[in-house]
Amino acid sequence: MSLQTQVYTVHPDAPEARTIKRAADVIRAGQLVAFPTETVYGLGANALDPAAIDRIYEAKQRPASDPLIVHIHQLEQLKQIAADVPDVVERLAERFWPGPLTFVLKRAPGMPSNIAAGLDTVAVRMPAHPVAMALLMASGVPIAAPSANTFTRPSATTAQHVLEDLDGRVDVVLDGGPTTIGLESTVLDLTVEQPVILRPGGVLLADLRKILHDAVLRPGYVEDEASVSPGQSKKHYSPRAKMTVYTGPRVMVLEKMRNSAAELTAQGHKVGILIADDEGQGFPPEAIVITLGSGLVAISKTLFAAMRQLDELGADVILTRDFGRDGLGTALWDRLTRASEGNIVQIE
Ligand code: TXA
Ligand code: MG
Repeated sequence: MSLQTQVYTVHPDAPEARTIKRAADVIRAGQLVAFPTETVYGLGANALDPAAIDRIYEAKQRPASDPLIVHIHQLEQLKQIAADVPDVVERLAERFWPGPLTFVLKRAPGMPSNIAAGLDTVAVRMPAHPVAMALLMASGVPIAAPSANTFTRPSATTAQHVLEDLDGRVDVVLDGGPTTIGLESTVLDLTVEQPVILRPGGVLLADLRKILHDAVLRPGYVEDEASVSPGQSKKHYSPRAKMTVYTGPRVMVLEKMRNSAAELTAQGHKVGILIADDEGQGFPPEAIVITLGSGLVAISKTLFAAMRQLDELGADVILTRDFGRDGLGTALWDRLTRASEGNIVQIE
């Protein structure tokens, strides 16, 4: 599959109506448009068109077993997409939509089954990004959109990342600059007795619990590969390099990382380091040190871009650390665990 990918630049806060209209026409014609959301870029197609949905799987080289998220711009659209929607959804939507929260609900009979990889459920989210909202509104249809990366690559947080993976495979890329959150949405399954977060993201468990008192994080959500939800295989968000995540007391972790970096460099490895601001000293000069920012919000925002940058620069090993697990740290830890395929080193 090869086609001429068009890039349309749009203002992230006030997208130009003419540009949005052109992209919306492409969606309605059954073709693919990558667009920014507040989390990551999405690879969008008309969610009501099974052939268009198939094109997403083909472009991403994504297994047909991995279901997609349907994006909407008003709550009203929910009844077209989902059936037997529990009452609590309205309260959750009022509080968290538009925003980085995806609900898994029972799929409405009229929705194509390939949207959900044949499951009888469907994932839905209302994104909080002016470009995504404008595109949804102008298209007049719900838009199915997984993250706009090829399967197993880190999610795309800029239009440039989308092109790295999907140039010649997507019809239009709306370039609205870098995304703000940088990690994918929280996926909350409401089809089971006890609401469960299948993927931690920008909306935190503690905040959900103010409305959904019994919500839980999927037990063993990182370690237990057997029980995973569709698409939550451990190999995900991976850079090409082999990644190791160190966890334990910060000072000791940093010392261990510096020693390991020196050893690996001496063995001839090209070592990439992902670290917080002010932690970049003491690594061998040959190592590629990328500082991600300070604090969980900044680190989350830059993580995927930094992993891609290290790939680009030819790192064959990446060393990083546990940046904490509170708040957004849960989502960050989840992505680090997956990117490293569970290669965690505990420092006592
Ligand atoms: O932030 C996001 O969620 C981004 C932006 C573009 O909205 N989208 C995204 O989509 O990350 P994707 O396809 O890369 O990840 C969606 C995840 C899947 O891995 C899958 O585990 C879960 O959502 N999911 C989707 N439909 C599901 C369903 N019916 N049941 C259980 N899990 C589902
Ligand atoms: Mg994805």
